[in-house]
Amino acid sequence: RLKSLDTFRGISLVIMIFVNYRGGGYWFFRHSAWNGLTLADLVFPWFVFIMGTSMALSFRGALRRGIPRFKLILKVLKRAMILFALGVMISNSKGKAVDLRTLRVPGVLQRLALTYLVLGIMEAALAKSHDPHQWWSSVRDVVGNLGQWAAVLMFVAVHCCLTFLLPVPGCPKGYLGPGGLQHGGAYENCTGGATAYIDRMIFGTEHMYGHPTCMIPYQTTVPLDPEGVLGTLTSIFLCFLGLQAGKVILIFQGWKSRVSRWMCWSLVTGLVAGCLCKFSAEDGFIPINKNLWSLSYVMALASMAFLLLSVCFLAVDIFRVWSGAPFIYPGMNSIVIYLLHEILHWYFPVQFKVGETHAEQLAMNLWGACLWVGVAFMLHQHKVFISI
Ligand SMILES: *[C@@H]1O[C@H](CO)[C@@H](O)[C@H](O)[C@H]1NC(C)=O
Repeated sequence: RLKSLDTFRGISLVIMIFVNYRGGGYWFFRHSAWNGLTLADLVFPWFVFIMGTSMALSFRGALRRGIPRFKLILKVLKRAMILFALGVMISNSKGKAVDLRTLRVPGVLQRLALTYLVLGIMEAALAKSHDPHQWWSSVRDVVGNLGQWAAVLMFVAVHCCLTFLLPVPGCPKGYLGPGGLQHGGAYENCTGGATAYIDRMIFGTEHMYGHPTCMIPYQTTVPLDPEGVLGTLTSIFLCFLGLQAGKVILIFQGWKSRVSRWMCWSLVTGLVAGCLCKFSAEDGFIPINKNLWSLSYVMALASMAFLLLSVCFLAVDIFRVWSGAPFIYPGMNSIVIYLLHEILHWYFPVQFKVGETHAEQLAMNLWGACLWVGVAFMLHQHKVFISI
C-alpha cells in the first residue's frame, strides 16, 4: 500500500474540512464567486483525482486475486449506491425536519458516487491484470487503455457540445456567466447557462442547491448546483486522469520513470488548461470555474494533482523524509471523517460562538479541522478502518 496516496487524500480532506468550516472567513479560503481559483476550489477535485489513482491499484489487485469481473461490477454498484444514499442524507440534514418537496438530490458524495460508478464499471470490465511488453512499451499507460480513453473523451465531447450548443430559453447559446447583475442584468436568469438548465430540467429548481457562490455578489435568483449532472462528465474525466496516474504506478518500475511521467502529464494538462482559459481569469474560451466544473478547471486541477502526487510520493514513499503525518490518518479513514465533520458541523466543541474578527474565526476553524485529525489518529491507533 502506497502511503503517499493516503497522505494526498488526507491533505485534500483536511483542507476540505477547514474551508467547509469557513476558513476564518478569509476570501482566499472561500470559494470563488464565479471564475477563478481559491484554495477552497482545489480540494474536492483532488479528492476525485486520488479516488481514480486508488481505483487503478485496487482493481489490479482484485483481478490478480482472481475475483471475477461480474463480482467487481456488483461491488461497484453496491458501493456507489451506498455512497449516493449517504450523500443525499448528508446534504439534506441540517438539524431541521427535511421537506421532501425540496430534497436536494445532487451533492458532494453523490458526485463521487456517480463518478465511481461509471469508471468503476469501465475498469471492472476492461482493466488488464498484467501489462505485456510491446513495441509501444514506453507509452503503454495510454496505448494499453485506448478503449477507456475513447469512452472518456466521448464524455468530454458530450460535455462541450451540451455546454456550447444546447439552446437555453431566453439565454445566448454557450453562456458561461453567473447571470444576475452581470452585463447590466441582460441575462439575469441565465446563471450557469446550459449546466444549470439541465439540472433544472432533470431535478426541478426545488431539488437543487439554492445558494450558489455567485448569489450575493451578482444578485442572482436562479438556483445552480455546483455538483450537478453536467459537471459529472468532467469529473469522470478528472477521475480518469487520476486513474491514469495509478496505471503509471502499475506499469512502470522505479521512481524516476514514474515521476517523470507524472511530470509530463502535469505539464500537458496544465498547458491544455492554460490554452482553454487563455491564461486569464475571465477572457478565455472556457474560463476556470468551480461551479460549472469547466474543462479548463478540471485540467488545471489535474495538473496540480500530478505535481502534488509526485511530491508526496517522493517524500513519503521513496526518500521517506516524511511519514505523511498527520494527514495520513484522515486519509486512511476518509469517508468516516467526511461524514462526521458534516454531521457534527454545529456541535460543541467543533464550532461555537467567537468574536467576528478573522483571527478568532480562523483559530476556531483550524481547531475544528485539528479535531477531526485527532479523531482520525485515534481510529488509526485502535486499528479501526472503515470503508464502504
Ligand atoms: C427573470 O425571472 C424573473 C422571475 O421569474 C422575471 O420577473 C424576470 O422578468 C426575468 N428576467 C428576464 C430578463 O427574463
